[in-house]
Amino acid sequence: MGKGTVVLSFSGGLDTSVCIPLLKEEYGYDRVITVSANVGQREEEVIMAEEKGKKLADTHYTVDIREEFVSKCVFASIKANGLYEGYPMGTSLSRPLIAEKIAEIAKKEGAVAVAHGCTGKGNDQLRFDIVFHAYGLHIISPMRERNMTREWEIEYAQQHNIPISVDKKHPWSIDENLWTRSIEGGLLENPAYHPPEEIYAWTASLFDAPDTPTDLSITFEEGVPVAINGKRMDGPALIAELNRVAGAHGIGRNNMIENRVLGIKVREIYEHPAATTLITAHADLERLILTREEYAFKQIVDAKWAELAYGGLIYEPLYEALNVFINETQKRVMGTVEMKLYKGNVIILGRYSENSFYSEDIASFDSCTIDQRHGIGFSHFYGLQARLMKQRELHKVN
Ligand code: ARG
Repeated sequence: MGKGTVVLSFSGGLDTSVCIPLLKEEYGYDRVITVSANVGQREEEVIMAEEKGKKLADTHYTVDIREEFVSKCVFASIKANGLYEGYPMGTSLSRPLIAEKIAEIAKKEGAVAVAHGCTGKGNDQLRFDIVFHAYGLHIISPMRERNMTREWEIEYAQQHNIPISVDKKHPWSIDENLWTRSIEGGLLENPAYHPPEEIYAWTASLFDAPDTPTDLSITFEEGVPVAINGKRMDGPALIAELNRVAGAHGIGRNNMIENRVLGIKVREIYEHPAATTLITAHADLERLILTREEYAFKQIVDAKWAELAYGGLIYEPLYEALNVFINETQKRVMGTVEMKLYKGNVIILGRYSENSFYSEDIASFDSCTIDQRHGIGFSHFYGLQARLMKQRELHKVN
């Protein structure tokens, strides 16, 4: 009598494939269920995982969560101008949602445990575990628990008739969803190494980007993008279209050193043409609409939101409270931003909104609605205490 059923988060790669026989032979489970999530990675990857899961596991699920990923995670991130250490987050947004789907399947299937292929050095272990712990599930993580080597995994896979496609020439670890693509590992680990052009799939090199710019407008309603050039589109379609158009202009590439939650510094490469375009436009529109106080405070909120989202802390009450604040501010973020896409740049041309706080009548040099003489009185009180301090200092010296 074995230990019952375990549900494995399955990508179809070497690590998670090896986990299937391992969970039976070494961990003693009777039944392994694989779950693959479609978050908008390459279609071939989704199909490959499904075929492998069906062949190797007792039961396989493919869950298509693209819609939910956009409406729940990506849109929240746009509203929060979600950047971590300067780049648009992606992997961190998808992991908790995937983990929740797996936890739900584990409950439905009466599983006693869940498993994932995360290492003990990255952020993803935290983003999965936090959800699994909340659902009261026992967690198995063979990679992290057994310090497995690549060579051992390949041999074990061959013994168990697991098809492997380890590309020796391109040993990168890639994580993709419809919002961002990340490439790490192999030679890229060395911060000094110059990444070869072949690692990029979503963005053109600036040297190949067209000499003619593309003009574009994006319309937002309550902080989320709803139309390109006036044409309404649903979230996933709009993002796909922008990835194509902005990617061709080489927009949205990062080659950076990142601080992981555990404190480890790593070299990361990212591609995110739609994310860069949308966050640039959204942040611009907010400047037209939010009050000075709202805008200043939201910068602090956005930074904290990104920190919590990066760590997968979606059950933190503060995260919920920040979302409530952000959603409140976004009620007025309606309008259109016009821009040019050119050689890696999103060049904002103009913006307009029914909720604009700009008043030509007040700001213009040519208007007399506000009597400028009131400025004299205002100025008398402005910085009063600091001014007195300076006066005392000047007094002493003289
Ligand atoms: N460093 C990023 C994060 O923690 C991306 C990690 C993506 N993983 C990968 N195998 N490329 O969110």
